[in-house]
Formats: sequence, structure tokens, C-alpha cells
Amino acid sequence: MQSPENQIIPRQLPESVTAKIDEARRNYPAEENRAPLIWALHAAQDEFGWLDESTLEGIAAYLELEPIKVYEAATFYDMFNRSPVGTYNVKVCTNISCWLCDSDSVVEHLRAKLGIDFGETTENGRFSMTEVECLGACGGAPVIWIGKTYYEDITPERVDEILDELE
Ligand code: FES
Repeated sequence: MQSPENQIIPRQLPESVTAKIDEARRNYPAEENRAPLIWALHAAQDEFGWLDESTLEGIAAYLELEPIKVYEAATFYDMFNRSPVGTYNVKVCTNISCWLCDSDSVVEHLRAKLGIDFGETTENGRFSMTEVECLGACGGAPVIWIGKTYYEDITPERVDEILDELE
């Protein structure tokens, strides 16, 4: 049990987030307050860039859910950032299909080009690198995922093109 001084204060969600949650909520029966949870997590992440504990508590309060239900979803899915990331979080799949198709060379190229490793962010705050499990796009291995876009059949040369486009 948390002592009062360690208690997390739920973040008051701004109208830009609650409006999206309310919109999602209209697609489900009123008593199904867990149903819009994924939408709520996306809306909050779009607003804040990542999901800290006070945001998760704020979502729980807004949806009237037990906080553990919100934590479960936020920690299960790779698409949710649980720590601060750069403007572009380059998520690299290193699972079996991507590994067999040489994701190692993609990882090494990203490390050298960005000067960071997994879990780190460039000094200018533009790029982070995150290692992820299978993205369900094995037919296009190796795969990286930035923002809401999957990039398939990635090579070091293709990494350069993509990062140049984002700069
Ligand atoms: S192993 Fe990389 S997408 Fe499936």
C-alpha cells in the first residue's frame, strides 16, 4: 500500500483528450467503460508524448476504472510509451523473422547514425530507439515502426532515406 506522500495524483485530462475519449465512448454501451480505454491511451499519448503514472491515474478516474486495468493495457502494448521519447520513436523489431532478415544491420546502422542505443534519445530530442517484439508484419521483415507508420523490407540505406525525410 502506498503511503500518502507517495500517492500519485491523477492528472486532470485536458478537453482535447476528454473530447476524444467521449467520442470513442459513444461507440459502446454506456456500462462498458473499459471499452474506450485504448482510445483514451492513444489520445493521452498524442497529447503528452508518453504516459506517466499520473496520466494513467487520470484516465482511470475519467473512465471510472480500477487503475490496474489501465496499467495493464498501457504496459502490454508496444505502441504506448511509458517513458519520455523523442519526437520520433524508432521502434525496431528484432524478433525471429526480422532477425533472420538481418535486423542486426539495421540496429547497428541506427546506433551509429543516431549515436544512441535502445532506450535512449538523441540530444536534440528528435529521435529515440526502442526494441520491440514481433510487429505482426513478418512478411515484410525487417520492420521498423515510427509514429503510426510501419516501414518494411528495411535496409541501412532505407533507414537513411526515412530519417532524412523526418529531419
Ligand atoms: S518478427 Fe518482425 S514483424 Fe514479425
